[in-house]
Amino acid sequence: MKNYRIAVIPGDGTGPEVVREGLKVLKAVSQKFGFSYETEVFDWGGERYLKTGEVLPENAIQTLKKFDAIYLGAIGHPDVKPGILERGILLKIRFDLDQYINLRPVKLYPGVWTPLRDKGPQDIDFVVIRENTEGLYKGMGEFRDKGTPDEVAIQISYNTRKGIERCIRYAFEFARKRNKKKKLTLCGKTNVLTYAWDLWRRVFNEVAKEYPDIETDYAHVDAICMWMVKNPEWFDVIVTDNMFGDIITDLGAMIQGGMGIAAGGNLNPEGVSMFEPIGGSAPKYTGKNVINPLAAICALSMLLKHIGEEEAGEKIEQAVMWATQNKIKSMSAGKMGMSTSEVGDLIAELVSK
Ligand code: IPM
Ligand code: MN
Repeated sequence: MKNYRIAVIPGDGTGPEVVREGLKVLKAVSQKFGFSYETEVFDWGGERYLKTGEVLPENAIQTLKKFDAIYLGAIGHPDVKPGILERGILLKIRFDLDQYINLRPVKLYPGVWTPLRDKGPQDIDFVVIRENTEGLYKGMGEFRDKGTPDEVAIQISYNTRKGIERCIRYAFEFARKRNKKKKLTLCGKTNVLTYAWDLWRRVFNEVAKEYPDIETDYAHVDAICMWMVKNPEWFDVIVTDNMFGDIITDLGAMIQGGMGIAAGGNLNPEGVSMFEPIGGSAPKYTGKNVINPLAAICALSMLLKHIGEEEAGEKIEQAVMWATQNKIKSMSAGKMGMSTSEVGDLIAELVSK
């Protein structure tokens, strides 16, 4: 029997609640599909930082390397200055484990309300591939004359040919494997950001030659924001840089029904990957048993597909779709018509059948 080692980082706010439901589903689906797993839970997050002053223990990254995958709840605490936990935990793991792909499906499940009145599940089904280790997130820059009226803040977008190429190549492969529209759209800003996007565009065109079966397209990021709302059915796979990917995937989350359902994977195709609901820690709902755990459950589905348990992952996604269609009233916290734990129970029961 296959045995997997999964690192669990419940994190802050509602993170622990949604991860708890995900682990409930994991238990059920592992019994159904006959694989075993061990979890190790890490208490990294805002509470630990406030208590100990330490963001991550020194050996954290080395420790994570021993696992088959990482399951993350949410990072971010209202009492901690913005940036400390995000940079110190989330981005550190992404960067140090070289999780260079951030994979974010934008898929409207049946029965889920979308703000796009005339669009349905057949129209909203694409995937954003966000470069996850470079760009503006690299953290390069400086203050000049800090604190003076002449102060300047410089924030650099750092793009390597190798970093761009591995991301674009992954996107072409992904579009091929996905085998739907077989179309890859590059989302950039070539008309203004003439260094970064010149390089992205050149690498994209070069790599495209190796994939004659994939249709290619380019759109500026601002235009993409329009088309995602007006014509989401145009998209199959979108590839973009770290910052644009961050922004357009929040828009994507909204058109697929909200943060309650949006999941993502931070992938190192050659190493250890991490899966998370993309919604954040939602402090105001903490401990109330009202947050929607489906995003975390969908992240678990992605995790299982990634480590080789495709059928189990697919089973979870099917169960989620059945539940959105038939049982769960809304994707919003407090409006599901069920509690957090009842949703977890329901999906666990569905995957056991
Ligand atoms: C996300 C989040 C993070 C990001 C934050 C929490 C650092 O918004 O995963 O999209 O900007 O990447
Ligand atoms: Mn984001």
